[in-house]
Amino acid sequence: MNERINIVILAAGLGTRMKSRKAKVLHEAGGLTLVEHVVRSALALTSPDRVIVVVGHQADQVRAVLAHTGVRFVEQTEQKGTAHALEVCRTLAADTEGKLIVLYGDCPLLSAVTLRRLLDHHEHAKAAATVITMMLDNPTGYGRILVDSDGYVSEIVEEKVASPEQKKVRQINSGIYCFNAAPLWKHLSEIRPNPVSQEYYLTDIVDVLGRAGHKVSPLLHENPEELLGINTRVELASVDRIFRDRKTHELMLAGVTILRPETVTVDMAVRAGMDTTVEPFAQLLGETTIGENCRIGAGAIIRDSQIGDSVEIQPYTIVNTSRIDNGASVGPFARLRMENHVAANAHIGNFVELKKTRFGEGAKAGHLAYLGDSEIGAEVNIGAGTITCNYDGARKHKTVIRDRVFVGSNSTLVAPVELGTKSYIGAGSVITSAVPEDALAIGRGRQVNKEEWAKRRREKPAG
Ligand code: UD1
Ligand code: CA
Repeated sequence: MNERINIVILAAGLGTRMKSRKAKVLHEAGGLTLVEHVVRSALALTSPDRVIVVVGHQADQVRAVLAHTGVRFVEQTEQKGTAHALEVCRTLAADTEGKLIVLYGDCPLLSAVTLRRLLDHHEHAKAAATVITMMLDNPTGYGRILVDSDGYVSEIVEEKVASPEQKKVRQINSGIYCFNAAPLWKHLSEIRPNPVSQEYYLTDIVDVLGRAGHKVSPLLHENPEELLGINTRVELASVDRIFRDRKTHELMLAGVTILRPETVTVDMAVRAGMDTTVEPFAQLLGETTIGENCRIGAGAIIRDSQIGDSVEIQPYTIVNTSRIDNGASVGPFARLRMENHVAANAHIGNFVELKKTRFGEGAKAGHLAYLGDSEIGAEVNIGAGTITCNYDGARKHKTVIRDRVFVGSNSTLVAPVELGTKSYIGAGSVITSAVPEDALAIGRGRQVNKEEWAKRRREKPAG
């Protein structure tokens, strides 16, 4: 990184063809906004203070999603075209000694390897600029690359203004360029508005540099998939699919079994250990880590969570911002809503919801329970239908259940309340005050048996 490389990322446009109120670069593929992907590739090549993002539409939101990266921003208040977008960076990026790479914010699959190839090619090309090009079977929508007899770019013709003959050209402009900064900044302002659209096209730089005696070299990239620019939601979906495939391939090659990988959604930052199996339609999202030898059931959705080793997440379980330790099993149809910690070898069964709960080692809640704002000790047994009443209509209160407590089915624990170590709660109890260690608490109407009552009722004459 000792070379002086500035990178400008154009991301000011709305992206009319997306048919969205949201700026195009804020749409997501592979679990990240498009512009974040591009910034990531840029940061593999140069330091954040040398990356400049041109923002316009929803500038504040774009700044916000990139704030953690440390890149710089320039605002293009009116979108007058790609050349104008670069022009507004003049004061920040005009390091006339070095190189300037221009990237478009809607081209998220671009890899750092390709950017290094671009620099390498440019180094040897003896040209003022290099543009990455590719051959497409269907070049519709892209600028076409016209090449002169020496193999240099003679012109880039935009789709809108191309003649029928030019439209047949399959070599297209990817929108990724490397410039020698000096001639670029010297001649950029010579670009005139396009007579048809009135926009300043960066692609006209070829003509402007050419008139000053400079060459533009084309670098033909053999993998067109990587340079797909997103203009519509159809393209967004295919780029998302490519990111998902890359990620599942990476995990499979690292020892994770994925059943029907085409149905599974895994975000870029997710990690998973060896011999873990992921069943169809699972979603592993955000900053999620999964240990070795786990099973992630069909349709499970896990976000921003840490899962230990040999954990079983049964089908259709939802886990959010929670931690599950080694050997635990959760689900099917369980919901760990937020900030839970399920300790080792614990078991959470179907239709159990946990919220801000620490669930102790080896504890069990097999069916139908709500445990919120609670601290539950080791080896506790929570009967079916147990509810922590953590909310009194105004404030949230805590339930503490000490080690080895047995909570009978259908118990109502009115917080704040504490159940002492090894205590028992009779089924159907409403518990409103502390239960001492080793005690049995029963809080329900006493049963009354009326002998022969049913029989008498049956035999009573009608009317
Ligand atoms: C552009 C190229 C085209 C190329 C294609 C590759 C031009 C004139 N055309 O066309 O040759 O084949 O990309 O994907 O450059 N932007 C701004 N400010 C503006 C205008 C655009 O920041 O005033 C940004 C957009 O947000 C976007 C990028 O520049 O991220 C490209 O703009 P877009 O309108 O998508 O250009 P294309 O028509 O796709
Ligand atoms: Ca585009």
